[in-house]
Amino acid sequence: MQTILVTGGAGYIGSHTLVELLQNTDFRVVSLDNFSNSLERSYERVQKICKRNFETICLDLCDKTRLYEALGQIGHIDGIIHFAAYKSVPESVKEPLLYYHNNLTSLNNLLSYAVDNGIKHFIFSSSCSVYGNADDLPVTEASPLKKAESPYGHTKQVGEEMISFVSQAYPAFSAVLLRYFNPVGAHLSGLLGELPLNRPNNLVPIITQTAVGKNALTVFGKDYPTRDGSCIRDYIHVSDIADAHVKALDYLLSGKNKTRCSIFNLGTGTGISVLEAIASFEKVSGKKLPYTIGGRRAGDVVSIYANNSLAKKELSWSPQYGIDDMMLSAWKWQQHLETE
Ligand code: WQD
Repeated sequence: MQTILVTGGAGYIGSHTLVELLQNTDFRVVSLDNFSNSLERSYERVQKICKRNFETICLDLCDKTRLYEALGQIGHIDGIIHFAAYKSVPESVKEPLLYYHNNLTSLNNLLSYAVDNGIKHFIFSSSCSVYGNADDLPVTEASPLKKAESPYGHTKQVGEEMISFVSQAYPAFSAVLLRYFNPVGAHLSGLLGELPLNRPNNLVPIITQTAVGKNALTVFGKDYPTRDGSCIRDYIHVSDIADAHVKALDYLLSGKNKTRCSIFNLGTGTGISVLEAIASFEKVSGKKLPYTIGGRRAGDVVSIYANNSLAKKELSWSPQYGIDDMMLSAWKWQQHLETE
């Protein structure tokens, strides 16, 4: 039985990926998380959906000694999916050194362990934020990377380069870098979803919290050069993102990785504006959403959406959900949270 280590497995995308791994593969799955931005209770939610156990390790990846001790006890690891990182754009602007330490020291330690222990397959959670304000849309994997708009985005750019150089230095090491666009929504069961521990920064959890009176949505700018003046993003269902990780593992484990460090855009290829996302939520929820129009938010790009043809071709992956599905699943999850 092959062993897959998932770091950040208690987090939003990590927990949804645990579900897809446990339901669709016979891997031995080990989740590593220090719950700095997640709740251990996420594991119960995963088990409730999958009705299958998995192993867990609680440790900080920045503690190299503990990391080597703990992973040494797992035995051979066939592949690593690395989610664990801080991911708030505005927080990274306020606390750059916290982000450089946490996101890059942890990655360096994990890569060191992988190289020292012959772990050949590595999947890295990257982000469309590496593109910055792209000149041409949709962006392809060959689109030029612009100067990062935030330390968060910079840690993703640096992380990608670290992994690329490691794959060049160690021929047995093979990696896939997955550039997520905007992951949103929740597991269709309504039993698992995004759990912001503090006030969320991202649009969709703010929308659903506003709908239940726990937040107040401000649209950050309606004077952008777009079809309705609000920013455009490529929202993609978190379960589509999770599915892509299972397919990327298969791509690596079956030796299909031609370049040893492959990059794939994970987006739907459709750009949706903030106001269109709000309209979608109102349609599927049947609720009128109160919001105000405010000023632009620092660091926001005007518009970005993916050319996802390479992931479709190489990973045999295709996003299954549209914006209405995403909003309905997010709303179902928020309603479930209200009952807990
Ligand atoms: C989307 C749009 C806001 C909140 C970031 C990271 C990305 C990924 C997702 C981790 C923007 C607008 C938002 C609000 C608003 N991170 N908005 N009012 O910034 O596109 O992407 O999160 O995986 O890597 O860069 O996502 O949801 O914060 O914003 O008007 O209260 O919604 O201005 O146009 P973003 P977001």
